Order: sequence, then C-alpha cells, then structure tokens
Amino acid sequence: MIARAARTPAGLTAMVDRRAAGLPLEHVLGWAEFCGLRIAVDPGVFVPRRRTEFLVHQAAAVARQATSATGAQAVTRPGAVVVDLCCGSGAVGAALAATLDRVELYAVDIDPAAVRCACRNVAAAGGRVYVGDLYEPLPATLRRRVDVLVANAPYVPTGAIGLLPPEARIHEPRAALDGGADGLDVLRRVITAAPRWLARGGCLLVETSERQAPQIVETFACSGLISRVASSDERNATVVIGTAVVRPGPGATDPATS
Ligand SMILES: C[S@@+](CC[C@H](N)C(=O)[O-])C[C@H]1O[C@@H](n2cnc3c(N)ncnc32)[C@H](O)[C@@H]1O
Repeated sequence: MIARAARTPAGLTAMVDRRAAGLPLEHVLGWAEFCGLRIAVDPGVFVPRRRTEFLVHQAAAVARQATSATGAQAVTRPGAVVVDLCCGSGAVGAALAATLDRVELYAVDIDPAAVRCACRNVAAAGGRVYVGDLYEPLPATLRRRVDVLVANAPYVPTGAIGLLPPEARIHEPRAALDGGADGLDVLRRVITAAPRWLARGGCLLVETSERQAPQIVETFACSGLISRVASSDERNATVVIGTAVVRPGPGATDPATS
C-alpha cells in the first residue's frame, strides 16, 4: 500500500521510515478506508476503526426507519438531521451521508486538529463541523430536531490505556481514548443531554464495550430514553441505541426539560 501511495523513491523511503518508527499505517498514508470510503486522517487524529462501521450500519437503519410522530408506525424519512458528536476525522458522519439518501449533517469535536480533518471529510458530504465540548457549539435551532445522534466517544477506562497497542497509545491523542475511571465519563454527558436535542422518536446511538453496555443502558433509562443493545461478533462491536419517547400529554414530566 505504501509502495502504491508513494509518488517518488524519496517519498517511499520517508513513508517506510515513518511506518518503521511505529506510526499507524493510516497516518503514513494520510487516509483510512472506512465503509468503502477513503477518509482523510492527519497525524495526531484518531484512526477510524473497522468496528465502528457497525455503528454506521445501525445508525443508517435507524435513519431509514425514523418513527412517525405517533411512534406507532415506521416510515422512511429522507433528509434526516444527523449529528456526529466526538467526530474525530468525521468518518461516521461522512459514511452516513454517503449511505443515506440525503441528510442534514452536523459534526463536533473538541480537538481542533480533528476538526480540521473532519472539515475535509464532512464538508465533502455537505455537512458542517464545529469545534467545542459535545453539544455546546451546535446551533440552538437544532434542539429537538435531531433524528439521529451518533457518538463514538472515548470509552477506554483510564487504567486500561496502558494496555492499548503502541500505535494507539503513542500516536493517538489521549482525549480520543481516555473515558475516565470507568470509561464512561464522556458518554454519560452525551446521554444525559441527548433528550434536549432529539426529535420525537429520534435516536442516540453510542459505541461502547460489551462489558460497559449494562451501565450505558441504565444511563439511557435515567435520561428517559428507551434503549436496546446491538452487537456484532464479526466486528467485535457493541452499540447501544436509545429512542426518545414520544412526549406525554400536558401535565406529565418531560425528561427533556426536567
Ligand atoms: C474514539 S475517538 C472517535 C472519533 C470518531 N468518532 C471515529 O469513530 O473515528 C473520540 C473523539 O472524541 C473527541 N472528544 C473527546 N472528548 C470530547 C468532548 N468533550 N467534546 C467533543 N469531542 C470530544 C476526541 O477528540 C476524539 O476525536
């Protein structure tokens, strides 16, 4: 692959040297293959994992079958509003835009280097990219309008970072990996605030580990979202999908505002 990517013999030598020094292949090439797309990945930006393609497949299925306002009937819904939180290179959002008919796509990351990279991948898909902490930089007009909210946030427990392969541990930013003591610090914040942004019947999909899934399900329930777990043995991937319940009538408590 490196031999095919190099434009000159000197370029080839430089790329081989960087690879031999331990840089991830994708950082040497400048791109990663993800959902059949070539995603630009700059050095210092999280390399999208093949396992995360499962998150994309689940999100695409949800977007195609966004529930109707009554929640009683599933309908095809082109032009869904999609938000990719913790977007990194923007791979998830870009893949969703490529898969779905037509989407209104927004992506956010706290790391300016990731956002620069995502701008190339997501803007090509007609999306907009914001830098900041989770929902904070999103336009307020998106509140209660989001049909599909995806987050592949950091979820490695701090104590397990040292067990990661050197390519991740050394060459990917700590903020892309470290999810705090139990790995769920960022995900808890994503889930708790989600009801303020989801449309009726809208879904939040988060990637997690099989071991963490029960805690995530509990957090979804505390936030008023009905959840289910989807897993793929083939991809070694676990995704929790939470649906914003259709808001009850007047007088009842609304999880989005309480
Ligand atoms: C595991 S990487 C996933 C990147 C991308 N979603 C993917 O699947 O390739 C997590 C990303 O979350 C970002 N991140 C961490 N904390 C964040 C926060 N509070 N707000 C926004 N982004 C955050 C990191 O900068 C990193 O790019």
